[in-house]
Amino acid sequence: TDQYAVIGNPIGHTKSPLIHGLFAEATQQAMSYVAIEGPLDPDVGFERVVRQFAAGGGKGMNVTAPFKLKAFALADERSERAILAGAVNALKFESGRIIAENFDGIGLLRDIEVNLGVPLAGIRVLMLGAGGAARGALLPFLAAGPAELVIANRDVSKGEALVAQAGSRRAGLRACGYGDLAAMGRFDLVVNATSASLTGELPPVPPSVFSPDGTAYELAYGKRLTPFLRLARNAGAHGVADGVGMLVEQAAEAFVWWRGMRPQTGAVIDRLTVPLD
Ligand code: ATR
Repeated sequence: TDQYAVIGNPIGHTKSPLIHGLFAEATQQAMSYVAIEGPLDPDVGFERVVRQFAAGGGKGMNVTAPFKLKAFALADERSERAILAGAVNALKFESGRIIAENFDGIGLLRDIEVNLGVPLAGIRVLMLGAGGAARGALLPFLAAGPAELVIANRDVSKGEALVAQAGSRRAGLRACGYGDLAAMGRFDLVVNATSASLTGELPPVPPSVFSPDGTAYELAYGKRLTPFLRLARNAGAHGVADGVGMLVEQAAEAFVWWRGMRPQTGAVIDRLTVPLD
C-alpha cells in the first residue's frame, strides 16, 4: 500500500483524507492517506517530519498552512507553477528526491471553468486580495485569457508587485485599490481571494462590481453565505459559489500527478457541499 499524507497545523478539520480516500476507492488504488499535524517547534522541524515520512516509504504529501513556504524551500525540484506561486501544496517523493507542485490555482480555475461553466476567455475578472491565495491563482487565470484581470487590494503595492511578477504575461492585468472599483463598472467574475471571510469580515468592495449574469466565487469553504457572497447575491449576481470545488479539484490534480489517473470529482464535491443558506 502506497502511503500519502496531508501535513499542516492545525490539521483537525482537513477534508483531504476523505477526498483522497474516495478517489482511491473509485479508482481502485491501493493507497493510504492520513493527516499529520506538523511541528511548529523549529527544534523538531517540519523538514525532518517530511523526510521521515518519505524515508518510511511515503510517496507523496499535500501541504497546507503554515508550511507552504517551508515545503517550497526544502524541495529538490519545483514546477514552474510552484515557482510562480512561491508556495507548494503537493510533494512527490521519487528516487530520493523531493519534487514540489502547486495545484491550488489550477484547481480554482477548473472549478470555475469546468464545474461552474464559466470560461475565463474574454471576460472581465476581478480578484480581491494579493496574498498567497491570489498569487497562486494569478498565472492559471492569465493563461485562461481573460479580457481583463484586475487585482484589488487594501495594500495596493502588494497588488502591483503581483502584476510585476507576472512579467510579460500581463496583458489586461492591473492592480488597484478598493476605492478605484466604483469607477470600473461590472465584472463577469469576482473572486474573493482575501482572508477576510475567515474572520467574518467583508473586503470593502462596492456592490457595483457585480453583474446580473456574473459569478461571485469565495475561496473559503464551509462558511455558508459569507458577507462577500451575501453582498454579491444582494447585488444580483447570478451565480455564487464557495471554495469546496476548488478543494476537490486541487486534490484531483495531485491524485493525477501521483497515481497517473484522473478521478471523477462531481460526486465528491456533492458529498462535501454544504448548502450556502
Ligand atoms: P492568504 O495566503 O490567505 O492569501 P495572506 O497572504 O496573509 O493570506 O493574504 C491575506 C490577503 O487578504 C491580503 O490580500 C490582505 O490584504 P492586505 O494585503 O491589504 O492586508 C487581505 N485581507 C485580509 N483581511 C482583509 C479584510 N478585512 N478586507 C480586505 N482584505 C483583507
